[in-house]
Amino acid sequence: MNGIELKSPDEIDKMSRASRIVAEVLEALRHQIKPGVTTEDLDDFAEKFILDRGGKPAFKGYQVRDQVYRHTLCVSVNEEVVHGIPSKRVLKEGDIVGLDLGVIVDGYYGDAAITVPVGVIPEQVHRLLRVTEEALHKGIAQAVVGNRISDISHAVQAHAEAARFSVVTDFVGHGIGRKLHEEPQVPNYGEPGRGPRLKPGMALAIEPMVNMGRPETAHLADGWTAVTRDGSLSAHFEHTIVVTETGPRILTKL
Ligand code: MF3
Ligand code: CO
Repeated sequence: MNGIELKSPDEIDKMSRASRIVAEVLEALRHQIKPGVTTEDLDDFAEKFILDRGGKPAFKGYQVRDQVYRHTLCVSVNEEVVHGIPSKRVLKEGDIVGLDLGVIVDGYYGDAAITVPVGVIPEQVHRLLRVTEEALHKGIAQAVVGNRISDISHAVQAHAEAARFSVVTDFVGHGIGRKLHEEPQVPNYGEPGRGPRLKPGMALAIEPMVNMGRPETAHLADGWTAVTRDGSLSAHFEHTIVVTETGPRILTKL
């Protein structure tokens, strides 16, 4: 016995509707990213888009201990790893911007993240984005029946480290469904062959965070924003997926 809930086809359908809105918003936001836009503009856009589609922002009102998150999007710029708070900050050419978004439909959650460049960025930074997204897909490819959770973790870490980047260990992916965060945790590092066995109907948010420099993170005084301790750039990609008999199904993909 464990606390991992297997989702029925009807539940997966609800998650898939939530996840579709997530994917649509992120795709729309990708095209809005340019110099001069504030991170708050992106948050406003995302909220309107979600409400228009009949969804509910999942992060708004989300509570961790005594802290409440007040926004729809997490926007993490450059050395910010995750949970950056939308503000009057103006994006400028050469920045990289992590956009993390959750949506609820009929009580079920979808969660995804992308990192996008603002205008032209150096080749090495492009490589960071590409490798992080590839690492996500290496992890997803391991989300097959009979594998274990850490087979995902190991695939993510191996890919990021082969490219001489480091994976963040202070935050992990998670089960998802009727809550944003369910069991099991899905680390982005570790030996293969450990943890719960994957079964059809398991829904997971897999979300590597990869740093150009060292893996350690620190928290800003706002209580949310995580940054790299060494100030190096960080990228984040995330999908909500379901394990099926025929392989992983990515819900947050258009
Ligand atoms: N997608 C993130 C996660 O999976 C962000 C949620 S934190 C929140 O943990 F507080 F902003 F909701
Ligand atoms: Co998540």
